[in-house]
Amino acid sequence: MTESSVSPGPIVLWLSSRFENLELGQAVLEYVCRLRGIENDAEHWIGVALREALANAIKHGNHQDPARRVMLSLGGSADDLEIVVGDEGEGFETSAVADPLAPENQMKTSGRGIFYMKTFMDDVIFERGARGGTVLTMRKHLGGDRKKGVQTR
Ligand SMILES: Nc1ncnc2c1ncn2[C@@H]1O[C@H](COP(=O)(O)OP(=O)(O)OP(=O)(O)O)[C@@H](O)[C@H]1O
Ligand SMILES: [Mg+2]
Repeated sequence: MTESSVSPGPIVLWLSSRFENLELGQAVLEYVCRLRGIENDAEHWIGVALREALANAIKHGNHQDPARRVMLSLGGSADDLEIVVGDEGEGFETSAVADPLAPENQMKTSGRGIFYMKTFMDDVIFERGARGGTVLTMRKHLGGDRKKGVQTR
């Protein structure tokens, strides 16, 4: 078995809704990337997507209530990395999210998180959780171009 095919299986964390926990999520991502042979450039962009997803779950989903939990799962198969972020919020309508590339939004300093996730990851799927809240699944296909870094499209 080569180093790059080592997949630790899903790692699941339940995080308190504090922004400090972004760093913990990032640290676990770095661990998984090292184990799976994902190169630094790709890890960097996946890390941006992960931090945006966790920040949204903490801020918009759980309203920074430390009693509410954010679920983070890092898994996937040999050829892809799957990140799932779940929160205990009210959920939201993705079709209502403003397009950050629209002229009237280009001067705004927020509203780019989901755009970044979609830019850096191959699949970005928002679903309503069984008990309410949002379940976000993001996948990065690693396949043959794992060593070439992330295409930023
Ligand atoms: N987990 C979530 N629960 C509820 N609403 C959400 C969630 N994630 C995103 N949203 C909604 O989608 C909008 C767009 O999210 P996005 O991350 O693109 O921008 P932002 O969080 O407003 O700003 P930025 O991420 O640039 O700081 C948010 O303003 C919020 O209304
Ligand atoms: Mg955001």
